Amino acid sequence: MGKKFFDYIIHGGDYNPDQWIRTPEIWDEDMRLMKLAHINSATIGIFSWATLEPEEGVYNFEWLDTILDKMHENGISAILATPSGARPAWLAEKYPEVLRVDENGIRNKFGERHNHCLTSPVYREKVRNINRKLAERYKNHPAVKMWHISNEYSGECHCELCRASFRDWLKEYYHNDIDELNFKWWNGFWSHTLNNFDQINPPCVRGESNTTGLYLAWKRFITDSHISFFENEIAPLREITPDIPVTTNFMRRYNGIDYQKFASHVDLVSWDNYPAWDKGRNQKEALEAAFLHDFFRSIKNGQPFFLMESTPSLVNWHGVNKLPKSGMHELASIQAIAHGADSVQYFQWRKGRGGDEKFHGAVVDHCGHENTRVFRNVTSLGKKLEKLTCTVGTETKSKVAVIYDWENGWAVSSFCGYNNIHRDYVEECIKWYAPFYKRGISVDIISMSDDFSKYDVVVAPFLYMLKDGTEERIEEYVRNGGNFVSTYLLGLVDSDDRCMLGGFPAGKLKEVFGIWCEETDSLPEDMPGKAEFGGKTYEINHICDIIHAKGAEILGEYKSDFYSGLPCVTKNIFGKGKAYYAAFRNDGDFADDFCKMLVCTNPIAPDANIAHDDGVFLRKRGENIFVMNFADNEKEIVLDKEYTNIITNEPACGKITLPVCGYVILK
Ligand code: GAL
Repeated sequence: MGKKFFDYIIHGGDYNPDQWIRTPEIWDEDMRLMKLAHINSATIGIFSWATLEPEEGVYNFEWLDTILDKMHENGISAILATPSGARPAWLAEKYPEVLRVDENGIRNKFGERHNHCLTSPVYREKVRNINRKLAERYKNHPAVKMWHISNEYSGECHCELCRASFRDWLKEYYHNDIDELNFKWWNGFWSHTLNNFDQINPPCVRGESNTTGLYLAWKRFITDSHISFFENEIAPLREITPDIPVTTNFMRRYNGIDYQKFASHVDLVSWDNYPAWDKGRNQKEALEAAFLHDFFRSIKNGQPFFLMESTPSLVNWHGVNKLPKSGMHELASIQAIAHGADSVQYFQWRKGRGGDEKFHGAVVDHCGHENTRVFRNVTSLGKKLEKLTCTVGTETKSKVAVIYDWENGWAVSSFCGYNNIHRDYVEECIKWYAPFYKRGISVDIISMSDDFSKYDVVVAPFLYMLKDGTEERIEEYVRNGGNFVSTYLLGLVDSDDRCMLGGFPAGKLKEVFGIWCEETDSLPEDMPGKAEFGGKTYEINHICDIIHAKGAEILGEYKSDFYSGLPCVTKNIFGKGKAYYAAFRNDGDFADDFCKMLVCTNPIAPDANIAHDDGVFLRKRGENIFVMNFADNEKEIVLDKEYTNIITNEPACGKITLPVCGYVILK
């Protein structure tokens, strides 16, 4: 059992009653409608600073008192936000240093959100102050159950304060030794050798934009700045409300902050998921959502997480905002629960009358009543979530891990060479995650620094960078009986993006994999090569390593170009384990066929023996098995024994037909 913050599944969303302060009768209507929709929680005050503190030192909490009281009276718990995501106009006017500066040194004007300097002592003090006031006022309020810190931390600032802070950070990271930094960034190149730390500026198109060591350091610094900003925000909350947990909502595919590092600072992970449903690629969206749920579950040791935001209908920021069909919202929400979410929350409860998000989906539309398709869908889900309390706090045990390492992602996106056009690290990781998910085998998404020893299989797509110790840990893992699968470009560089000497894979990994890579070829999109594996021919898409076996068994060979006949897939027995190398990229079935071979030769059982077709995904969480149909047509599944359907509480056995968007949860 993992950590539990509630005894039931949280069903709620972002609630902005301050936008309706002139029509407080709507607040009562909100309470009525929330109860009707089986909403049990609301996240409140996210962008309320200007209402809470309309002038410096002048506070207006009465509206929030009223709302929190109403929520409590109606059995709705509050996830209370700190308002630092958007600052009031008076603050920006009086203290312009709080506004962000872009990389060319131009300070932003007041406006937008996420427009604050992370370093500014004034901003930090003002944030601490308003957070302290909130904590003091509501520390004993029975509705308040959790803190929602700011909103989707993101972005960066290049003001003089941030630059100075970056230089201090660099001094610490590189032991106050400019020669060490010069060597690690290989600054002899283009005469970039620095004399002192004061000469360093953040990466910038008009300055230094090609030194990847600098780029990586800046990304690490921005992550640490956000963490320190967060720690500053929560200091008064930890002091005054030590028993109220804190979270901050992370974003899907946002690469600006290392969430793998940030996760240890929150009490529980929460994130915002916005797939583009019903645009003809639901299975792809479902795979990506599954991968991301598993990522956010894994970054805090497999603990349950919160789905902090999702839309109950459409968003407003796609080029074309398609309405998902009825059923999609429920299925997507159930998928989150299957993967470890203890909540389903929405952006947003009620559509505002104005502002940029007035046409974004909400539980309550501008019509203001409950007689809508979306409201009915949300209500239907709310009733079902009440039957799923048995899942709360439960975890998933995975025997397979895919390494999706944040810092490696930065490194992969920034180097210049080989194929500069087709290089999407996340897509590669999802590609190698998908075959396991399709087979009902649960997967953890880990960093290269996590413990490998608990997994039967570890897959490392495009693990270009190796941080200190990773080489040894892979060696030890395989020596002790693990199965390690690597794709192309393994271990080219160290954590400063400096090439490893002695060829790749780096160091001892040549022995572990029993191969040596001599060259890497990049292929134009319309000139794919050919590779053969298991009697089948595959395209080589975009990139391949030209490898030589030095002890490894050859499982596949190239069939094109001057490297025809050389190995493209290898397996090496090393110690008690096996190291596999898949040297080329294929955007078709190769990963799936490879994994099929892998799970047959190294028996890895699915989470449950329920026969299911493509488009149906299966996941076990705790004792419950979720089977979900993301295909465009109905699907039949075959149960291996008698189960209980935990929503209907009826027995389930034999064949079951899942309609489009259908699912069952079995015990
Ligand atoms: C999120 C954000 C919300 C809202 C939503 C719209 O990223 O946190 O405040 O803007 O997007 O989809």
